Amino acid sequence: MTNQMLVMPAYTEEDHHTWATLYARQWEHVAPYACQQWLAGMPVLGLDPLRLPDPRVYSGRLAELTGWTLSDAANAYLGPTEWFEALADRRFPVTNYIRRPHEIEFTPLPDLFHEYFGHLAFFTDHFFAETARLFGELYLSSSDERQHLEISRLWWFSTEFGLIREGADLKIYGAGLYSSPGEMSHALDPNIPRYNFDIRQVAGTPSAVYSYHPAYFILDDPQHVRRIVYDYARMEGLPLPS
Ligand SMILES: [Fe+2]
Repeated sequence: MTNQMLVMPAYTEEDHHTWATLYARQWEHVAPYACQQWLAGMPVLGLDPLRLPDPRVYSGRLAELTGWTLSDAANAYLGPTEWFEALADRRFPVTNYIRRPHEIEFTPLPDLFHEYFGHLAFFTDHFFAETARLFGELYLSSSDERQHLEISRLWWFSTEFGLIREGADLKIYGAGLYSSPGEMSHALDPNIPRYNFDIRQVAGTPSAVYSYHPAYFILDDPQHVRRIVYDYARMEGLPLPS
């Protein structure tokens, strides 16, 4: 499924307008809370704020920068095995679906705004891109269901919904927080519990797909995600991914 050809659909002007609306609104909303890695990666990625992205262009750009390519996620949530196989192979699955205009606030289907605006800036960075590949290797090094679930949660609560410390500030790290204004505000609300990223605690915390999370986890620095991969492998006696 993930090896299907990348295609840019014949988007309508209305589709481009939806992208431009989401982009402008989110940029303003997240900029004060964005982490350094994302802020540094966005100009390198070079998305057009007004026009929907052609996946072939951004696949080529990432290939030049970090050796990653985009693959077609066929507009569906991938199963975890397919997902981590893609990561291990330096492929990031993307959809080419853009939500309908009446779904600006919420889309029940994964749409490309999350992937391009939330995730891809990180993949312009060598260290992050290599860490993502190692996450894939870690998952594939195990055939144990508990470990698979735990590794999925470690990925989820760091790269999808993690927060990160920058000096005295708390910034957003996870792609899901960049693409959801509601969940970003929720995650930064002082009344919402936030914990230091503890592998055992995160491994025991279910992810929420259809609602905001009741708690969030804080990474110490951009190298922390790499340490999580190696620490989990050591804790579980798995081969260190390479
Ligand atoms: Fe995501």
